[in-house]
Amino acid sequence: MWGIPGAGYAGKMLSMAAKKFGLKCKIFMGAKDIKRQRPNVEAIRENGAQIVPVTSGSQTLVDAVSECMRYWVSNCEHVHNCIGSTVGPNIFIKICAWSTAQISRELMAQVKEEFGQVPKKMKLLNCVGGGSSAMGFWNEFMDTDAELVGIEAGGPENSNLHAAPLTNGSKIGILHGAAQYVVQDKEGQIGSTESISAGLDYPGISPLHCFLKDTKRARYTSASDEDALKAFQLVSKLENISPSLEPSHAFAEAIRLAPKLKSSDVIIVNSCGDSLKDKDIIKKKLGAYKR
Ligand SMILES: Cc1ncc(COP(=O)(O)O)c(C=O)c1O
Repeated sequence: MWGIPGAGYAGKMLSMAAKKFGLKCKIFMGAKDIKRQRPNVEAIRENGAQIVPVTSGSQTLVDAVSECMRYWVSNCEHVHNCIGSTVGPNIFIKICAWSTAQISRELMAQVKEEFGQVPKKMKLLNCVGGGSSAMGFWNEFMDTDAELVGIEAGGPENSNLHAAPLTNGSKIGILHGAAQYVVQDKEGQIGSTESISAGLDYPGISPLHCFLKDTKRARYTSASDEDALKAFQLVSKLENISPSLEPSHAFAEAIRLAPKLKSSDVIIVNSCGDSLKDKDIIKKKLGAYKR
């Protein structure tokens, strides 16, 4: 089994499954992400998987996906490729979206229990990197009135770099075997990205989200690194949860929206990751980390 994570979660889960079934497991991860997501890297190693550091390009998720695909096509007779997001060739997108959809089945049951039905004015907020957790969160709500809001990584405020192709008007290009909106330079080469969150730091976006944007079924916006950090602090203080930096982007949008809404409106944010993996980054940026 061969897998690719940005933040390390997909690698952690895949290595756990490999351990259970006695399979060999290699996890391709950008060298920059190996450094910034240390707790998940340690968990992957503890599960007995081998981490393959990818040192090409930006040394992040995009390069890890490329390297893993190269390895897979050269060895496809005896390896399986597992991608932790709704990106890559068609079938991987379907497998990933289908399996993450379980989240929305559980959410639908909880919403009905809480409100009796899907509320008319309900917003489902989810951060978007490749787009798997958002697809999983929204799946059962496609045919309801729920507003679907995807939040991309706007990057540092003092920089033009971002990882937000849908919000920043990026053009259609081809990346990892699929046509999609993708951050690119004037010549159409894949452009550089930057985000405080390893899991959102990807120049492309699932074709599923491109479709949802084009058909206006979902709305996309972005939050900066700074806004995500502020949201992390506020949510940790008020809500007794400690979101990772990816969902902190979605919480930043919730914080922006909430003052404009009525108290009967409902916002649900998918807090899809835990801050522990980001403790080194948070400590560096905020001076301390407490969970
Ligand atoms: C906690 C968390 N949330 C979100 C993402 C973004 O990926 P996706 O957009 O596929 O959900 C990642 C990716 O690593 C992640 O670790």
